[in-house]
Amino acid sequence: MKALSLIGLKKTFERGTPNAKLALDNLSLEAEAGEFITILGSNGAGKSTLFNAILGKFRLDRGKIVLDGEDITRLRDYQRAYSIGCLYQDPMRGTAPNMTIEENLALAYTRKASRSFFAVNRKDSAYFRTLLAELHLGLEDRMKTRMGLLSGGQRQAASLLMATIAEPKLLLLDEHTAALDPGTAAQVLELTRRIVAERHLTCLMITHNMQSALEMGSRTVVMDSGRIVLDVSGEERAQLTVPDLLSRFRGTAGHALDNDRMLLG
Ligand SMILES: Nc1ncnc2c1ncn2[C@@H]1O[C@H](COP(=O)(O)OP(=O)(O)OP(=O)(O)O)[C@@H](O)[C@H]1O
Ligand SMILES: [Mg+2]
Repeated sequence: MKALSLIGLKKTFERGTPNAKLALDNLSLEAEAGEFITILGSNGAGKSTLFNAILGKFRLDRGKIVLDGEDITRLRDYQRAYSIGCLYQDPMRGTAPNMTIEENLALAYTRKASRSFFAVNRKDSAYFRTLLAELHLGLEDRMKTRMGLLSGGQRQAASLLMATIAEPKLLLLDEHTAALDPGTAAQVLELTRRIVAERHLTCLMITHNMQSALEMGSRTVVMDSGRIVLDVSGEERAQLTVPDLLSRFRGTAGHALDNDRMLLG
């Protein structure tokens, strides 16, 4: 059984109007359990729309989404939220800035159905502290610090922990390091690599950085105009360089990678 099956997803925004936009064009993708797939593609290729489809943010025109054997196509977004962890570019999104790190973690932790927020006990707190200490960001002594006071990198690291603490069936990362300086971005990427591996998470990561797309995870897909135009893994991917990627897409699949925001290293 696949961890995730996306079958023939189609989404047209403002359908039936002059502004109609085909954002997902019969897109299919399957992920094995524990597979870590990086996603590249120029602005407007449909990457975030793909995530929003998985998260149930809108109704699809057509297609089916199966997560861990369950057809979730018709579930509402809040019904899926328990099984899907998500991180965005904006470090403030998805956390409560006026709550402490500990409270934010507790909130995320209680998404595991069996726990109530108020039942988060001393043992849980110790567990959070251990996890935070592992980030090596000096956060373990700042459990009572309000989330809003942390730096962007610290917040993304804490958010990553929050998104994964309830062991989601799927982790979606939408340019989660794009707003960070290169050094901090590298740290958060390393943390991402560790958490995904140690918790055996199935993960999709959108990035504009071709180098990290090829280095992170074990498979890379390129999107263009709502479709997947390249899907590489194994030896083929290991041999692939950033210049290869660029030359492969100039002139062939349009402008899939021809993008100002696309970083070379
Ligand atoms: N809610 C919406 N209503 C109307 N059009 C939308 C909506 N969301 C996305 N679109 C359109 O769908 C297309 C795909 O957008 P999407 O945000 O998925 O691109 P992306 O690949 O994530 O780009 P970027 O790299 O800039 O984040 C774009 O043309 C966008 O304008
Ligand atoms: Mg996007």
